[in-house]
Amino acid sequence: MGFPKGFLWGGATAAAQFEGGWRSGGKGESLQDHVTGCAPGGKRLFNAVIHPDTYYPSHDAVDHASHIEEDLALLAEMGCTCYRMSISWSRIFPHGDDDYPNEEGLRFYDHIFQTCERYKMEPVVTINHFDMPWELVRRYGGFLNREVIDLYLRYARVLFERYRGRVRKWLPFNEINFGVLPMGAFKAEGLVPPALREIDQWTPVDELGIPLRDRIQALHHQLVASALTVQIAHDIDPLNQVGCMIGYITKYPLTCSPEDMLACQHDDRFMNRLCSDVLVKGAYPAFALAWFEREGIAPVEKFGDDEVLRENAVDFYAFSYYMSNCATAKAEVERVDGNLLGGARNPYLSASEWGWQVDPDGLRYTINELQDRYSIPMMVVENGLGAPDVVEDDGSIHDAYRIDYLRSHIKAMRDAVDDGANVIGYTAWSPIDSVSSSTGQMSKRYGMVYVDRDDGGSGSGKRSKKDSFAWYQKVIASNGDDLG
Ligand code: BG6
Repeated sequence: MGFPKGFLWGGATAAAQFEGGWRSGGKGESLQDHVTGCAPGGKRLFNAVIHPDTYYPSHDAVDHASHIEEDLALLAEMGCTCYRMSISWSRIFPHGDDDYPNEEGLRFYDHIFQTCERYKMEPVVTINHFDMPWELVRRYGGFLNREVIDLYLRYARVLFERYRGRVRKWLPFNEINFGVLPMGAFKAEGLVPPALREIDQWTPVDELGIPLRDRIQALHHQLVASALTVQIAHDIDPLNQVGCMIGYITKYPLTCSPEDMLACQHDDRFMNRLCSDVLVKGAYPAFALAWFEREGIAPVEKFGDDEVLRENAVDFYAFSYYMSNCATAKAEVERVDGNLLGGARNPYLSASEWGWQVDPDGLRYTINELQDRYSIPMMVVENGLGAPDVVEDDGSIHDAYRIDYLRSHIKAMRDAVDDGANVIGYTAWSPIDSVSSSTGQMSKRYGMVYVDRDDGGSGSGKRSKKDSFAWYQKVIASNGDDLG
């Protein structure tokens, strides 16, 4: 069988990791502009005060802002038929609550979408990818504050109106489910304790001490905002399609003991199902309601929230997939790292240099699970291998390891399609090297195009094709038949 005709192939990027130009074109500061990179094994640090002598990876990122034509031409040459990217909220509303949107910021994305149109690449746009205007964090307290829902919806409405007809696929929040985790509270929900919003103090981003109750409350506000985004998007243009975006952490029980099975079900529910059940099925699942009650963390809801959630289900299910790990009831087990969340090591899998276990079969398993659970079109909007690359003397970059990773995952996705799953597209993370979200490093590279920039932000910014570039080009040209 293989991939259906019209299957979307592309790559995915995010503004704070890719764009740079943090103070150009009227852009305001984003919360990411307050986060440092980190040394290997270290942590990224947050400080409300920006230090001019400190390196902040988001400020220049890989300077896509000055390479728009070149970067999009490279994606087009690769054969991409779609391009997932995010809009920087603070480029449109520099302080989040400005009276009018920033016209220069809107033109910045006009340029991107017009170029996409020229190359016949369909944009898939993330409205908020770990990238909130700093002033909304500082003065409003991020998504914990219900007022931020309205500010977000105003921003989303501006985008739907301005890019009507040019963009049809929208993702309101990147990896919305990570909001339940300490790190996600900062990145995804914009939560910083009030005492740290004004002072000059360095704190690791996952040690900001945001209570679970606040994370759940902020998550509720995002879920409502997401549902209202569906409503507004459909009202403005019935051809708009809005998806959820879940950071999927595939879990296996470490052993077949019933205790491990229950531990696995628990992790799967809280990480993978809670948010998507709300966004796809329109209501909190029973296990979430029971948990809220047990822990005394039920979010404060406004009259009508239930109806908003019920009546505005998403049109498609988008998710990121990088790795899997194991769940167990035992405390003393060997552990591995992972995308925001680690787990018990799976003895059958190898791991990347950053400790993320490589599991292509897990992608097939996940897609099949999602097909059974939700039965709506699916899109894999992030998948890739973070690995250091070596530039040879002649400038070539032989990234066979990346080709192996992508090949095995695309094959697994094709197997899932053959199993009957309705997958409509795939965007590899990130087709052009960008800054790592977890570490702020450049050396954790995902691209098929190399960017000459190092972990301290030095380098020419020159783009060069890796071996994986020609390989992916062939995959796309054959609609995934030739994975050679
Ligand atoms: C996803 C994020 O969780 O993982 C991306 O949506 C991120 O922003 C990607 O870059 C890979 O993670 P990392 O930490 O290796 O960059």
